Amino acid sequence: MHNVHFPTPAMMAAMRHALPDLISRYGSTQEVLNEKLSWFVGCDPARLQVVHGASQAFPILADLVGARMVGVPDPTFGEFRRAFPGAVTYTDGPGVDLDELEELAARVDLLAIVNPNNPTGTTLGSTGLHELIGRHPNTRFLLDESFIEFSGEPSMVMAVEQSPLDNVAVLVSLSKTLGVPGLRLGYVYSCDARFVSELGRRLPIWNLGSVAEFFLELLLKFRPELARSVERTILDREEFRRLLQGVAGVRTVHPSGGNFVLVDLEGPSRVATEARAALLRDARIDVKDLSGRFADGAPRLRVAVRRSDENVRFTEALEAALKSMPW
Ligand SMILES: Cc1ncc(COP(=O)(O)O)c(C=O)c1O
Repeated sequence: MHNVHFPTPAMMAAMRHALPDLISRYGSTQEVLNEKLSWFVGCDPARLQVVHGASQAFPILADLVGARMVGVPDPTFGEFRRAFPGAVTYTDGPGVDLDELEELAARVDLLAIVNPNNPTGTTLGSTGLHELIGRHPNTRFLLDESFIEFSGEPSMVMAVEQSPLDNVAVLVSLSKTLGVPGLRLGYVYSCDARFVSELGRRLPIWNLGSVAEFFLELLLKFRPELARSVERTILDREEFRRLLQGVAGVRTVHPSGGNFVLVDLEGPSRVATEARAALLRDARIDVKDLSGRFADGAPRLRVAVRRSDENVRFTEALEAALKSMPW
């Protein structure tokens, strides 16, 4: 689930050209990396820590939070449950009940919100979230915005830069938006200076490789291409939803703020398991079977948005898979 329209061929050529030199040296210190990333994010460099992929932050954040009461969405990205095994959950069914969220915000010490959420694509308005966080100054919020660029909602980072709230930490994976899961790039942003420095103290001395750092520098020259690739992905996603909605056996294609869609199928929950197996066997396409992850037991698949020709091929493969089923 990464941006398939980025990095551009020109960026890849620059990376190839630089590689022999890059692999023979270390990257910069954390302070320099933070500064470089802050140019891209457009924020105060003292408010962020670059991490080696958002995944690196989970155990560190869990350690910083300690054994306090945590709320996480269900379902969501698996690292939330792994980092906070005792957490209470709130339902993203798909769709989050804002009253339930408000009630939980008053009850827990840390509330995790994934916006947009993986695997549902559920997206909450950033303005409403900023207000929610402001109404609960004694609760800490962990806001994962790894897919926010595909949602059309502005990032909380910009809202907090303008109107500071020190009870929120924003966690962002750059794997998805920048299309580079292999480089391991992400960051944590907060205007709580103590929290940011505590996080920094727990990071290794050489946390990013020189290749990832070079990519960070290159990125600044390719902002228009990045914006176009995100726009392309959003258009492709809406076209893909329209195509999938026309497939016999597909009940609902949920609205999504991510670069993936959640697809409900007709029939019993095993339909999704069988459809996944048929797609793998006959078309060599893997999708995520989410049967059993939701209370209603509906057969559901999470499907990544890829290039438009691949989306068409997937739609045809799903149609064939569902046609071959006995129900
Ligand atoms: C919501 C969410 N956050 C964080 C991550 C981790 O991203 P990475 O470690 O590649 O930066 C993922 C990966 O799928 C995700 O879905």
